Amino acid sequence: MPIFNHLFSFGPVRQFLWRCWYPNLTKRLQNQDILFLNYAFQTVPSVNLTLDPADEPNRTCIQLYHHVATQIELKQKTVLEISCGHGGGASWICRTQNPASYIGIDLNPLGIDFCQARHPIKGLQFQRGDAQQLPFPEQSMDAVINIEASHCYPDFAGFLAEVVRVLKPGGHLLYADFRFRESEPEWEQTLENSKLILRASHDISAAVLRGMDINAERNQQLIRRCLPKPLHSLGLDFAGVPGSRIYEALKEGQLSYRSWCLQRRDVEEI
Ligand SMILES: C[S@@+](CC[C@H](N)C(=O)[O-])C[C@H]1O[C@@H](n2cnc3c(N)ncnc32)[C@H](O)[C@@H]1O
Repeated sequence: MPIFNHLFSFGPVRQFLWRCWYPNLTKRLQNQDILFLNYAFQTVPSVNLTLDPADEPNRTCIQLYHHVATQIELKQKTVLEISCGHGGGASWICRTQNPASYIGIDLNPLGIDFCQARHPIKGLQFQRGDAQQLPFPEQSMDAVINIEASHCYPDFAGFLAEVVRVLKPGGHLLYADFRFRESEPEWEQTLENSKLILRASHDISAAVLRGMDINAERNQQLIRRCLPKPLHSLGLDFAGVPGSRIYEALKEGQLSYRSWCLQRRDVEEI
C-alpha cells in the first residue's frame, strides 16, 4: 500500500488512474441511473429543501449541490460546472436556479455521453474538457461550480488559474472538496495564492459523514451488484461506506471536507 500511495501522489499517475476509473464506472453503472458521484451532505436539522418526487432518491447528493451552488444567486448567470460527473447536479441547478446558460464539462467521455442523453434541458449543455485546460474564452463565465473533483487534478494551481481566466471580473467560484490533513496547508496556500478573494469557507465534514451514513446500504448493494469482486474494496472506498479508508479518515478527523465561496477581483481591484 505505501508504494501505491507514493505512486498515487505523483500527478500524472493519479490523472491516468482517474482517466481509467471513471469511464469504467460509467460503463458498469449504465443501467442503474446513477446521477451523482459525490459523498452527499446532511445537516442537523435538515435543510428544508422541497424536491420533485423524481429527485427524492438523490436528496442527500442534491443537498451538497444546494449547499455549494446557492451561496450566490445564479439566476440569469452564465455558469460553468467543471467535473459535472453524471450531470445530476447540473440538471437540478438548471431546473431550480434558472441560470441563463449552464455548461457541464468532464474528462470522462462516457459520462458526457450519459449526461447528453439523460438531461435534455433547455439552456443546459455538456462537453468533454479538462479542468486544467478549459475550452472557453477568458472572462466568459459569471460563476464556476466545482464539487468533489479537484483532488483528482494533478495541477490544482493550474486549475485555479484557468478558473480565474474564464471568470468575469467579480465572478464566483463555488467549490467543495476533501483533503487529508497533511495536505490541507498546501491546499489553503494554493487557494490563497490564486487571484480569488475568500468570501466564505466551511468545514462540512460532519454533514458529509452523515450523508455517507444515510447512503451506506444503497451504495454497498450497488457496488456488490455492479462491480467485479476484485474492485469491491476500491468501490466501497470510493463510495465512502462505513469501514472504508475514506469514511474512517473523515470520522477520525484525518480528512477534512470543505466548501468555499471565492470571488475574482473586480477590475478596479486587479
Ligand atoms: C467524485 S466525481 C464528482 C462528480 C460530480 N461533481 C458529482 O458531485 O456528482 C469526480 C469527477 O471529476 C472528473 N474529473 C477527474 N479529473 C478531471 C479533469 N482533469 N478534468 C475534468 N474532470 C475531471 C471525473 O471524471 C468525475 O466525473
